[in-house]
Amino acid sequence: MLTIKESIQRIQQGGVVAIPTETVYGLAADASKPLAVKRIFTIKGRPADHPLIVHIGTVAQVYDWADEIPDLFWPLAEKFWPGPLTFILKKNTQVNTLITGGQDTIALRIPSHKKVLQLLIALKCGLAAPSANRFGHVSPTTPQHVMDEFGDDIDGVIDGGACEVGIESTILDLSTKQLRILRPGQISQQQIEDFLGLPLSTMKQQSPRAPGMLKAHYAPATPLILVQKSALDSQLKEYLADNLTINLWSVSCPEPQHKAILWQPSPTNSDEFAKVLYHQLRQFDTTSADITLIQCPPELPEWQGVIDRLTRAAVHFSLDDLRSKLSRK
Ligand code: TXA
Ligand code: MG
Repeated sequence: MLTIKESIQRIQQGGVVAIPTETVYGLAADASKPLAVKRIFTIKGRPADHPLIVHIGTVAQVYDWADEIPDLFWPLAEKFWPGPLTFILKKNTQVNTLITGGQDTIALRIPSHKKVLQLLIALKCGLAAPSANRFGHVSPTTPQHVMDEFGDDIDGVIDGGACEVGIESTILDLSTKQLRILRPGQISQQQIEDFLGLPLSTMKQQSPRAPGMLKAHYAPATPLILVQKSALDSQLKEYLADNLTINLWSVSCPEPQHKAILWQPSPTNSDEFAKVLYHQLRQFDTTSADITLIQCPPELPEWQGVIDRLTRAAVHFSLDDLRSKLSRK
């Protein structure tokens, strides 16, 4: 584990260091050092056209990266920064397209975690930092998750404890006249609409600009099936009849004594659910279960981020497909 002082030195030397944020751990390098940024892509196994978020320490640093900043940006930044909201703005001409995946826009965020703010203020540079997981894997929310994922492949980890929010930041696109959410998170669309007093555009299906928008992202190793509360009993019976051992994450368990059901109670509050979600998915991968069943939370605004991640982590095939997959194990 690195002290802030050590991490400042390593980053200034072009190193790649895992940083705590309030959302998830990030894999950070000085955004103005192309070689260091390239190393992030290599370590993560991330395709070059998937852009990175640049983390900054002050609102004034926005001018180092963005151009044509709309008036709406300033009150939004004042309200939600530092915090789990990333803005997409037009990039300025100095920004290396290595960071933006070749696009003419840039993603910016001031995170609120004390340690990373301390680091950003001391460094005075932007930190390019995607989530500190291999491409397509579950994001890390503790230093141990980062170590499990990368070990010695990176230049160290700053220990900031378990992340408070637990899922990645909300991404709000301000680069066109059609304001829209590209990735839901703890700050909901409704909160932003209420603050602005105007509706955001609803996202249309489009080619994925953000990797978080690809299906089968955030995927755990154990097949994950999302189940509506009303179907929980019947689905459970069906899987038990197939002799499967089941991780179950639900508010209550219909058969708590059953040996083939490894039940964990799920939080009924969306913030608490988000906070433990990735840890729980990793935990479920360490059990002897064949599948993981998760009770789908209610379709309410505050659950948008969680439901988005669960839907992407879930398998999208039939019970028959699943049977043949498991029989090949
Ligand atoms: O909470 C978070 O946002 C975390 C912490 C570390 O800050 N970071 C994170 O980074 O989730 P990453 O790389 O895993 O996801 C960043 C998302 C990706 O979906 C990426 O495509 C999108 O931001 N993004 C970055 N630049 C973009 C751009 N110019 N236009 C559209 N999407 C962009
Ligand atoms: Mg990620």
